[in-house]
Amino acid sequence: MTLAIETISLTRRFGSVTAVSGLNLSVQSGEIFGFLGPNGAGKTTTIRMLCGLLLPSQGTARVAGLDVARHAEDVKRCVGYMPQRFSLYGDLTVEENLDFFAGVYRLAGQERRRRVTATLDRVGLADRRRVLTDHLSGGLKQRLALGCALVHSPTILFLDEPTAGADPPSRQRIWDLLYEAAADACTILVTTHYVEEAERCQTIGFMHQGRLVSSGSPEQCKAEMAEALLEVDAMPVMQAAAVARGLDGVTGVSIYGHTLRVFAKTTTHLRHQLQEALTAQAVAVKSIRAVPPTLEDVFMSLTRGASESEGVR
Ligand SMILES: Nc1ncnc2c1ncn2[C@@H]1O[C@H](COP(=O)(O)OP(=O)(O)OP(=O)(O)O)[C@@H](O)[C@H]1O
Ligand SMILES: [Mg+2]
Repeated sequence: MTLAIETISLTRRFGSVTAVSGLNLSVQSGEIFGFLGPNGAGKTTTIRMLCGLLLPSQGTARVAGLDVARHAEDVKRCVGYMPQRFSLYGDLTVEENLDFFAGVYRLAGQERRRRVTATLDRVGLADRRRVLTDHLSGGLKQRLALGCALVHSPTILFLDEPTAGADPPSRQRIWDLLYEAAADACTILVTTHYVEEAERCQTIGFMHQGRLVSSGSPEQCKAEMAEALLEVDAMPVMQAAAVARGLDGVTGVSIYGHTLRVFAKTTTHLRHQLQEALTAQAVAVKSIRAVPPTLEDVFMSLTRGASESEGVR
């Protein structure tokens, strides 16, 4: 397996803020890599460095075998980039936007026309080719933006929250297009805040405060979660949460409907302590059981440090 993306101690500072700190990342050719992390973790900054749009402060990154600092222009040509905020021109039609981006990627003549037409079909916007981009719904704009990133058939695709705010069918359409691109041997690095989308990736990397804090398959990341987890079914749930939060060793409590997910370094004695404390407070306990973590639990666990500093637990 060859590496499509490799970073060594990649670092980017903005004044006193270190947005990306000593990042070591490896993405295999042909895989869909999910890039996760809370707001401000450094995902967009990393992507912009990998696309040759932002110089690293320190460290190196190779994309498709090219050093991003020394060969930024070559990198820009062989990758596709769908930015977090739309880069589409609202006063151009769908087709004109695709044609514009084809030009940016230096396609010309017949090849340019052929790629624009093929991309219109590919993203399902052929019948809207003459519609002004400003008049498209959010989901269709996302599909067009993906088309603009795909128009030159890149070997590596960077997608920064391509489905943010989209409804489930629109998200499915985007993912169908990503699977299609992956089947054509395109490597995809995609950021998302939707954990169910992270489950669709072969490999995921969690960033937190500029660092990569966990990576591997979704199953590996779940198996390696540092904390243990109890699921508690108790009534009233808010009171149960307050009791759980007050117990020694409890590192976090999340409420889901009428159940709690209680995180702790170890749950060996906690189950018993929790049962006693809840009963003492007249909370009706239906069940307390150790459960395997979901990816959302892993996300909560890995970002706990930041949440605590914001006063949430
Ligand atoms: N151009 C810039 N100038 C100054 N600070 C910046 C700049 N770009 C990003 N930052 C800072 O770098 C940190 C990382 O930001 P970044 O946008 O990379 O995070 P992110 O993981 O993409 O977050 P989100 O999930 O909200 O998109 C933040 O603290 C942000 O404020
Ligand atoms: Mg971002």
